[in-house]
Amino acid sequence: MYEAYLADYEDYGPKTVEEVRKYLERTRKSREIFENISEYIPYGVNSNQRYYPPYPIYMKRARGSRIWDVDDNEYIDFNMGYGTLLVGHAHPKINEALHKQLEEGILYTFPYYILEELTELITDILNIDMFRFSNSGSEAVMFAIRLARAFTGRDIVIKVEGSYHGTYDNVLFSIWPFRGLAGPRKMPVSVLETMGVPDAMEDLVRIVPFNDVDPLVDILEEEGDDVAAIIVEPVMMNAGIIKPEKGYLESLRKLAYEYDLVLIFDEVKTALRAGLTTASQIYGVEPDILTAAKAIGGGAVISLIGGIEEIMSLVGPTESIREQGVVHAGTYNANPFSLKALYVTLTEVLTEDAYKYMLKLNHEIVDGYTRLLKEYDIPGYAEEFGVSGALIFSENKVKNFRDLMNLPFDLWYPLYYAMLNRGVIPMATGPEEMWTLSVQHTEEDVEKYIEALSETFKVVSEARKYMEEW
Ligand SMILES: Cc1ncc(COP(=O)(O)O)c(C=O)c1O
Repeated sequence: MYEAYLADYEDYGPKTVEEVRKYLERTRKSREIFENISEYIPYGVNSNQRYYPPYPIYMKRARGSRIWDVDDNEYIDFNMGYGTLLVGHAHPKINEALHKQLEEGILYTFPYYILEELTELITDILNIDMFRFSNSGSEAVMFAIRLARAFTGRDIVIKVEGSYHGTYDNVLFSIWPFRGLAGPRKMPVSVLETMGVPDAMEDLVRIVPFNDVDPLVDILEEEGDDVAAIIVEPVMMNAGIIKPEKGYLESLRKLAYEYDLVLIFDEVKTALRAGLTTASQIYGVEPDILTAAKAIGGGAVISLIGGIEEIMSLVGPTESIREQGVVHAGTYNANPFSLKALYVTLTEVLTEDAYKYMLKLNHEIVDGYTRLLKEYDIPGYAEEFGVSGALIFSENKVKNFRDLMNLPFDLWYPLYYAMLNRGVIPMATGPEEMWTLSVQHTEEDVEKYIEALSETFKVVSEARKYMEEW
């Protein structure tokens, strides 16, 4: 089975085949686990994104900037929980608080007193009037959309092509649509990304390109009165990294006011990415509702939906059949364990100095990529937002998903295997993914990243030449 897999990689050249062979050799226990469990757990993972062929590595423990797999391979981790762990692994301050919390109980399902100390902190950092905690980014998005529908009394949601907002049915459209199905650049067709979503849902979604307002205006002119919300990542961070062009977010804001609809910024990845702040504040555009998760909890299971009082105050228990509040509930919402991790993360770990430090390290990685891309004559650039960055194999700046569509994403595989074989997890799993720095990464870690990258680019460079002949 694996010989056949190796043969597949002959199309990428002998260096890639060698890297895949090495990967197979040094991850024997991972392979064993994969083979034993995938009969019971589809693809041997509990989140589709974690699988990549032929099998993922299974991890055993992590500390600081390091993570170890079951074969005892050590990696410097620049995935950092898909950009969640700006605090690094097993941060001593968070650990201390959580050990204490273990003694005091991890689930009350009564409100926890620490909320009083948190409200001002959260509303200040995120620049919102009110908020509610949930557990995952997907849940936060689901509630944000529900709120928008409750507020406007309308059903249609407009989503950007190529952006990912989690696993709620309503947003599982046009995340990475097949070229043949996606329709014209200026009028993208909504392409369902999964089986199991009712056809009726398709009627409730419209797709627009990022950084291009005209197609959105066209939709609004035709159906604006039926649109509840526009949901966007203010910086796209699930398609490499794509920043908003000047004026784009402002135009969304203006149109949302004009058509009385709710502007949702999905800040699951962008909140706290570039400081104790949001992308909304960095770009100076205020959404009506935002969602946040990942970095806010220092690795704990927590997310939030927040925004203007007018909308957020709709959340609440049902008073009568006619005066319904918006349902928001969850057994694990704002559990003491997660709240404690969030509190320590925001008050003790993610300080201004910590960001300065991480930003500096991130610049060094970006500079490393820039230098090596040039040295190896590989068309591409590294885009950074805050403490994260992404490699984009394009000579020109990418401004939306269509620009990404034709890039040689398959180059990610040789890059990923070669970096793993050199003890570095270079980014989160997937060609569209980003790397993330934490407070626990060191200068030496970054030097090792660039060193590994320098050798890896020999493999990538050869693969690129082979791919040109495909
Ligand atoms: C922008 C964005 N929104 C929502 C989600 C979903 O979050 P979760 O995986 O916590 O459900 C993600 C996950 O990566 C995301 O990047």
